[in-house]
Amino acid sequence: MDKKWLDQVISKYSSPSGRILGILGEIQKAKKYLPKEDLVYVSKKIGIPISQIYSLATFYSFFELQPIGEHIITVCTGTACHVKGAPKIISALETLLGVEEGKTSPDGKFSLTTEDRCFTLNTARCFGACSMAPVLRIDGNIYGYNTPAKLPNILKSYGWRKK
Ligand code: FES
Repeated sequence: MDKKWLDQVISKYSSPSGRILGILGEIQKAKKYLPKEDLVYVSKKIGIPISQIYSLATFYSFFELQPIGEHIITVCTGTACHVKGAPKIISALETLLGVEEGKTSPDGKFSLTTEDRCFTLNTARCFGACSMAPVLRIDGNIYGYNTPAKLPNILKSYGWRKK
């Protein structure tokens, strides 16, 4: 944690209105997520309970509480994709990316990031492309008709290499 940098960020937001959101926004922009130690420091420094800061950080979807990767892979777990094999796609991606197998949340409540922070794997429900099930999205690009065998080639175009 860089206290000097955080102090500078905090001092930029002296007015109460929007103060916390401004500070959190700067931390998110600089670090791509909100490190716990930074939130604790901000809480003490400006005298706002950490619970209040966490409730704001979890309310707004653009804040991340965990480090995220350079590329975001989102597997659809909607009904059509589930029936057409989304669980197998998730499992294959966990293996290829080397993240903890069986730990990707099917309800999209938490995601997994590779150690090198190149990829974050998460899930969401229905991208509106059910006819191409099972579907996944990487950085906004949709890939349909997926099979575990097709995944390495897709990942390679985002810099993935087999380890
Ligand atoms: S259920 Fe996956 S795109 Fe609709």
